[in-house]
Amino acid sequence: MKIIDGKALSARLRSEIAEGAAALKAEKGVTPGLAVILVGENPASVSYVTAKEKACLAAGMHSVLIRLPADAGEAKILDEVRRLNDDPAIHGVLVQLPLPQGVDAGKVAAAISPEKDVDGFNAVNVGNMVLGGRCLLPCTPHGILKLIEFAGIDCRGKHAVVLGRSNIVGTPTAILLSRKSVNATVTLCHSGTADLAKFTRTADIVVAATGKPGTLTGDMLKPGAVVIDVGVNRVEDASSARGYRLVGDADFESCAKVASAITPVPGGVGPMTITMLLWNTLESARRGCVSSADRV
Ligand code: GUN
Repeated sequence: MKIIDGKALSARLRSEIAEGAAALKAEKGVTPGLAVILVGENPASVSYVTAKEKACLAAGMHSVLIRLPADAGEAKILDEVRRLNDDPAIHGVLVQLPLPQGVDAGKVAAAISPEKDVDGFNAVNVGNMVLGGRCLLPCTPHGILKLIEFAGIDCRGKHAVVLGRSNIVGTPTAILLSRKSVNATVTLCHSGTADLAKFTRTADIVVAATGKPGTLTGDMLKPGAVVIDVGVNRVEDASSARGYRLVGDADFESCAKVASAITPVPGGVGPMTITMLLWNTLESARRGCVSSADRV
């Protein structure tokens, strides 16, 4: 049984991204810049955003954090997005989710310029992803593909079962796995699926992205299956100094007994999301350096 080490792959990719950022600075005088808008004080969001800033600075990128109060309102958030769209020092704009009730996340994603949409949530990027055109890929699904490749898993002709149909992870992951370049046969399961185990037991690869601990257990797996666990769930743990520990959507202990490879939580998919965010920010900064006359 192999543990797929997302920290190791992240470290490798982040060092390549840092080299790319340094080269862009040396050759074109451009430092890739990422702006993050955080609305409110959701503790999980604060910790994600802090990790993003730290990773950005470590890669030699420019980082801006805009903190707005929970009651800032949609109009203020949209104003900030538009200001950042027009800021030449910023190549990536990200609005941390979830947003407070009453703010339309779709409207916010639509306001981010597609060229700076490093989350890949804007409908232009989603549409181009589906059509196989030029786009910024959503970070977690892109990170999952990189992890599968890093683990030496060939998806061609394999059955991949994705659990969860969110716009951020499940749906785009299913689309990317079914691309010709990956060539998996994909089943997308969700809360309306009658018998999850019926599908997971035929899977060579299971991507668990439901946001619910214990969604996938060892008895639901075919021996030798690969498990990619996207979940990051806080469960109470009095023995931990923080009072909680992080667990995935898969029950690690029972799945590890049956699977041939599994991503741990933490240290699997999690670090890859931020890594691919840096990747997109560098990509956006590189594209911004190409004059419109050179674009095809
Ligand atoms: N909240 C949890 N994950 C993400 C993400 O990938 N992007 C954004 N913007 N918010 C999130």
